[in-house]
Amino acid sequence: MGEGCGFAEMKEWCRSIPKIELHAHLNGCIRDSTLLELAKELGQKGDIIFSDVEHVIMKYGRSLTECFQLFDLFHILATDHETISRITKEVVEDFAAENVVYLELRTTPKNNIAKGMSKQSYLKAVVDGLKAITSVDASFINFSGRAESFCKPLHKSGTNDIKRKKIYVRLLLSIDRRETTAAAMETVSLALEMKECGVVGIDLSGNPVVGEWSTFLPALMYAKEHGLPVTLHCGEIANRKEIQEMLDFSPERIGHACFLEEDDWERARLSKIPVEICLTSNLRTERLSSIDVHHFGNLYKAQHPLVICTDDTGLFSTNLSNEYYLAAATFGLDKKDLFYLSTNAVEFIFADDGVKKVLREIFQDAESRLAVELHS
Ligand code: IMP
Ligand code: ZN
Repeated sequence: MGEGCGFAEMKEWCRSIPKIELHAHLNGCIRDSTLLELAKELGQKGDIIFSDVEHVIMKYGRSLTECFQLFDLFHILATDHETISRITKEVVEDFAAENVVYLELRTTPKNNIAKGMSKQSYLKAVVDGLKAITSVDASFINFSGRAESFCKPLHKSGTNDIKRKKIYVRLLLSIDRRETTAAAMETVSLALEMKECGVVGIDLSGNPVVGEWSTFLPALMYAKEHGLPVTLHCGEIANRKEIQEMLDFSPERIGHACFLEEDDWERARLSKIPVEICLTSNLRTERLSSIDVHHFGNLYKAQHPLVICTDDTGLFSTNLSNEYYLAAATFGLDKKDLFYLSTNAVEFIFADDGVKKVLREIFQDAESRLAVELHS
């Protein structure tokens, strides 16, 4: 961490600077308090045995096994439209509270005939959650395709007004590695249909030991052919063949990249593919022995395009400010380094040039406001 800057001051800096979040899974970001409340309700209905999950929900710093236990619970919760809308609203509010000014929120559209849920109605529930946001000014593209605007008017400045946080939100639709080619194709078709409600790309995620690359490739190619950017969870485990196939595909970004070998990095370097870095997630899911050996260090030194992200704020008990702080504390970054790391992330977003332009202005304003601290 930069010399002359204490822990508390650095933590406050990490919270106060504008930030961009490009790798966050909706259901992995559920608030603990909401999870507890919803799990209690499910327990009362007899859908789950509450005492089996209570201690995991209450725990800070969950083990890998406990994380997967919670994923199963998330899947039960995600069968209700109202719950999806509520989680979406809260997740966006939580990111805005951390001064995230642009959020690319990813989620896996779910089909559940018994509950009257289709992938499309799931996505509509997500958009309804965005519409329901009142405590911050969230800018997203309306389901009906209306031009975007901040969903609440700005308060007139007055003595009693608190400056409201503003956040741009875009959606990525995830293909779960458990899905079939047809289901993956359905997700990409939905994304193309719903571009007008702020869907800007496709993600491939889910348990990395499940599924084959060849199953997802047709759908991912379809996305590419139709100009929809793709980000892949790549190299979460040591699977050389799949890592190479993924790099052959030339995705617009990759997430994690924990198990790339030197040859793979050579290719990634040549193509300058931005990497979504999720420090706490990689540590908790035991992708590395300790944080100081994380590939962030070498990539940062080599000036490779990077963006610091959270992955699952709820699951891993973290937030984006905390991830910036962790990077600073582990790899000796100072305030200026963090600010420009955050600024550079604007170039890797999937939203259009109009949004990029606005974000560049937000960072320029912040640079002027923070000039003293940035150049001291
Ligand atoms: P959802 O897509 O909104 O339901 O968010 C939760 C889902 O994101 C999980 O069921 C996984 O498929 C995916 N996910 C979250 N974290 C990870 C990760 O670390 N690796 C792979 N997939 C993940
Ligand atoms: Zn992820």
